[in-house]
Amino acid sequence: MARRVFVVGGHTTPFIGKKHPDFIWKRHPDFGKRTNPSLEDYIRVSVQGALEATGTPGEAVEKAWVGNFVGELFSNQGHLGAAVVGADPGLMYKPVMRVEGACASGGLAFASAVESIQAGTDITLVVGVEVQTTKSAREGGDILARASHYARQREIDDFTFPALFGRRTKHYREAFGVSEEDIGRAAVKAYANANKNPLAHMRAVTMDFETARAAGDRNPNFLSNEEFAPYIKMSDCSQVSDGGSAMIVVSEEGLAKLGKTESDAIEVLTVAHATGNLWEDGDLTRLGTTHTAAQRAYAAAGLAPSDVGVAEVHDCFTVTEVMMTEALGFADFGKGGELLKEGRTEITGDIPVNTGGGLVGFGHPVGATGVKQVLEIYRQMKGQCGDYQIAEPPSVGMTANMGGDDKTVVVGLYRNL
Ligand code: CAA
Repeated sequence: MARRVFVVGGHTTPFIGKKHPDFIWKRHPDFGKRTNPSLEDYIRVSVQGALEATGTPGEAVEKAWVGNFVGELFSNQGHLGAAVVGADPGLMYKPVMRVEGACASGGLAFASAVESIQAGTDITLVVGVEVQTTKSAREGGDILARASHYARQREIDDFTFPALFGRRTKHYREAFGVSEEDIGRAAVKAYANANKNPLAHMRAVTMDFETARAAGDRNPNFLSNEEFAPYIKMSDCSQVSDGGSAMIVVSEEGLAKLGKTESDAIEVLTVAHATGNLWEDGDLTRLGTTHTAAQRAYAAAGLAPSDVGVAEVHDCFTVTEVMMTEALGFADFGKGGELLKEGRTEITGDIPVNTGGGLVGFGHPVGATGVKQVLEIYRQMKGQCGDYQIAEPPSVGMTANMGGDDKTVVVGLYRNL
């Protein structure tokens, strides 16, 4: 990298939706007394929180990006660059734009800021936001299907993405002889981590191995697609969540302008962005686009998978976490389930993955996820994770944010300073 890039902190709101104690629905005691926060609320709270947490006056921000997938369809609201400006008077007339890459929108917003810093900007703001609970999960399935090849894939099931990953699970399990319970362990870990995380959507929901290992009354298969239904159950899915996350990304000069030192920051060693072909699918037993992005990231940073001490990976479904650990090189292809079974990806393991619960446990407000992932690495490295803190704060971290079915991928590598 020509110029060094640093993350100096930020703010993630609670991620909420069905089954979260604060989420308002018709049988909630506060129903009729208050409503759930809106897209506007999440942008304002995350931006103001990030400015405050890092001591950054709005006026000091030179450029900003906001990652959001489908504000138009869930909240009747597009044009979110101008929405970010509304979060703080100091942001008036700053250049701000929205970036979209399905569930990798937040990662792309971050990648845009990093490139801008490399090109000469000193202080940037990166925001990710999504509200999805304005529709039922079934209606939301149609909206989220816009991240697939809609004309070809929408009909696979009302729940298009769960079905697409049910399809991957089938191919993956058949290719490598992996069992349902090998993958189910990812859900147990996700919920256990989320139970330690006050910001997590599933902080109050427990998941034991008996429930996660196979479908049952409490954990049904729910697809209508008969071929893929047996391969995905409720506990394998990420959540339909609302939330926002924002952070400040700076150059060396930016650190000085904010009165900070390198020890206040983590360094972004590299960000690699790879894109697959939306119109055709490749090998369903591995995440080829993620693998390519990871290879590029390791080469650029001069690091190997064994150097990574903590990772935030895009577990939109349990099988995706398993396949991500393979694509990022933590396990050989087909062996991600063993890594999980040996406890190596737990908070106490040698390569902790998704310590705050990941998309399954922490939740998945899609545009916010890629930003939250980077902030989670920052928080682990700075010892700010409370009950889910890794005992020895890691010195190298990794993020992998994915849009669609392994189509848009942003992988980052970070060093603690
Ligand atoms: N027996 C059988 N079926 C049952 C059932 C039971 N006991 N309970 C529920 N179901 C079925 C029903 O068909 C129900 O549909 P209806 O409500 O229309 O009857 C359906 O399951 C959903 O049930 P709920 O609405 O009660 O469940 P929920 O609201 O808690 O949702 C979920 C659960 C469907 C798994 C939902 O969380 C979900 O859709 N998760 C996935 C979200 C998603 O796909 N995100 C995107 C990930 S992909 C990605 O990250 C990349 C990208 O770019 C998009």
